[in-house]
Amino acid sequence: MLIIPTGSVLGAEIRDVNFSRPLNAETASSLKRALLEHLVLFVRNQNLSETDQVRFSRHFGDPQPHVRKQPVAGLKEIFVVSNVSENDKPIGALGNGELTFHSDLSYLPKPGSVSIVHAIAVPNHGGDTQWSNAYAAYDALPNELKNRVVGLRAVHRHAEEEQNPNKPVSHPIVRTHPETGRRAMYVSPQFTRTIEGINKNEGDMLLATLLEHVTRSEFVWTHKWAVGDLVVWDNRCTMHRREPFEATEKRILKRTQMFGDVPFLDL
Ligand code: SIN
Repeated sequence: MLIIPTGSVLGAEIRDVNFSRPLNAETASSLKRALLEHLVLFVRNQNLSETDQVRFSRHFGDPQPHVRKQPVAGLKEIFVVSNVSENDKPIGALGNGELTFHSDLSYLPKPGSVSIVHAIAVPNHGGDTQWSNAYAAYDALPNELKNRVVGLRAVHRHAEEEQNPNKPVSHPIVRTHPETGRRAMYVSPQFTRTIEGINKNEGDMLLATLLEHVTRSEFVWTHKWAVGDLVVWDNRCTMHRREPFEATEKRILKRTQMFGDVPFLDL
C-alpha cells in the first residue's frame, strides 16, 4: 500500500489497495496511522458493496445508522447523500446546493468522529468537497486570540430544528484530539451559533472572527470526485464543505458514520 501526501495542508492518496477485501492487521493499522497524520485519505477506483464499506468502516470505529431520517434501501449503516429521485422520491439527503463548512453532527453531544464516503455517481461540474485543517487553523491563531478562546465553549445547533437534541449542546471552541493529543479549532459556519459565558455582541464578533479564520483558503484542500472514490476523514480535526452543482446532474455518495466521545480540551 502506497501513501502519497497531497502536498497541500492535509490529505493523502492511498494506492495499490483493494478495499473490497478484508484488510490484514498491518494494513489496517498503517491506514489508521495515515489518517491521524494526514486527516483525509482518498483512494480511487474502489468497487465496494455496502457490506464491504461497512466492514472497511469498522477499522475506524462502530458505524452507526445516521441520525437523519431518510429512506433506507440498503444496509441501515449506509446514509445516502444524493440529489437523485426515483419514482418521485428522493433516494438520499442533502440535495445539490452548497453545504457550508461543518464537522459532521457537531450539534450532538457525541458528534461524528470518522466519516467514510464511497462515490457511486458524480456530476461533470461542481460538487467538489473541500476539507480544512483545524489543527493548522488553531496553530495559526494569533497568541492573543488563542489565550482568549482556549477554555471557551460554543453552542452547536442544526438549522432544521427537528435534527437537534432537546437540550442545546455546547463544545469547547478549541478541542484536544483524543488520539493525537493535538489541539484543533472546533467551530463551523454551519452549526456553531453562539459563544457561552460572554456578552452576546462580544460573542458574535468573536465568533465571526473565528469563522473567518478557520475557513481561510490556506487551510483548505479540494477533492474532485470520480466514480469509485473512497474518502475517509477525521471530523475531530477537520471541517468540510461541498460546492453546489446543477440539479440536472446526478450525484450519489454512500456514507458511513463513526461516532466519538464528548469533545474535551486538555488544559
Ligand atoms: C457531507 O457533509 O457529508 C456531504 C459531503 C458531500 O456531499 O460532499
